[in-house]
Amino acid sequence: MDTKIEDRLQRPLRDIRISVTDKCNFRCSYCMPAEIFGPDYPFLPQNELLTFEEISKLVKLFHQLGVEKVRLTGGEPLLRKNLERLIEMISNIDGINDIALTTNGSLLAEKAKLLREAGLQRVTVSVDSLCPERFQKINGRNFPLEKVLRGIDAAAAEGLEVKINMVVKKGVNDQDIVPMAKFFNNKGYTLRFIEFMDVGNHNDWKLDEVVPSKDIVALINKEMPIEPVNPNYFGEVASRYRYIGTDREIGFISSVTEAFCSSCTRARLSANGHLYTCLFSSQGYNLKTPLREQKTYTELLELIQGIWSQRKDRYSEERLTNTKLRQKKIEMSHIGG
Ligand code: GTP
Ligand code: 5AD
Ligand code: SF4
Ligand code: SF4
Repeated sequence: MDTKIEDRLQRPLRDIRISVTDKCNFRCSYCMPAEIFGPDYPFLPQNELLTFEEISKLVKLFHQLGVEKVRLTGGEPLLRKNLERLIEMISNIDGINDIALTTNGSLLAEKAKLLREAGLQRVTVSVDSLCPERFQKINGRNFPLEKVLRGIDAAAAEGLEVKINMVVKKGVNDQDIVPMAKFFNNKGYTLRFIEFMDVGNHNDWKLDEVVPSKDIVALINKEMPIEPVNPNYFGEVASRYRYIGTDREIGFISSVTEAFCSSCTRARLSANGHLYTCLFSSQGYNLKTPLREQKTYTELLELIQGIWSQRKDRYSEERLTNTKLRQKKIEMSHIGG
């Protein structure tokens, strides 16, 4: 039986992004502002989290529906105990040929070796500034930059492919754009600039705080000439550029100014087993209950197939023409980036 599926806008299902915890040890204002995510915030209780066995079972199902690429996210995924065990289980699933992790890097120095040994191939680390004071302020927990940089180098030394994500917010860290590009180019890690997005309900997003990618491209091009590179695959999120005359790359994720919904092949699974078909969804689909009710493999497959075949999300494209677009949204820390 051919179980590859398409949604209502003819988009296949290719990637699953799995949040393994909604907790984080940072409080970045664009994601988990400290005033909201305080000591009384109702994070998910342990017994509501999917077990590693449940996650692996879902990954097998998703693979049958077309997924080959898995990204583990959070909150901060390295806060989930024994995450390397899950990585090992997923890397043993036939047909999953890409496993990556998005992390804030705070625990990477001590975990890199275990992660690599378990089968992790790639890691994406968020770094928003190279100014130690600004870095500490942005992460909301005074966490030292130097420890994250050590984690990044440890990951690379273990043989993990490393990328760096920088969320750019006007007036907050736009002065760091060129220093970040120079530093990570010299280090040999691909840096991607992400436009500040209106994810979640609490980050007080305003369009005039977004630095459009085309301005960043121009800024960097003036200092270090760059040229566009063809996408690696259908639906690639980042527009990739190369420093002319080298094989070093830099990327731009322009989900505000140049939405890429028309090729969006990503599904997101929250730590409590709800499936979201868009980063900006208001509601997810509960997969945990049917899983725990011991529904058969075929029943679960049909359930996911049904959800995907109804999908018509294209929030970022809609926002292009309506920047006042507002709806209740799931928090970024609940479904990862
Ligand atoms: P690669 O597998 O390395 O190509 O990763 P990627 O390009 O998918 O990048 P990554 O997973 O690091 O995502 C980077 C950031 O892009 C995320 O943290 C989000 O902020 C944003 N992003 C990723 N996917 C989507 C999406 O489907 N919609 C929107 N609006 N933003 C996204
Ligand atoms: N806008 C853009 N990117 C964001 N991220 C978190 N919140 C936002 C936002 N409001 C990114 C982080 C990290 C990933 C988990 O998502 O920088 O790279
Ligand atoms: Fe934590 Fe990442 Fe959100 Fe920052 S962006 S609060 S590090 S989950
Ligand atoms: Fe996909 Fe939704 Fe992002 Fe558009 S806004 S690219 S549909 S996740």
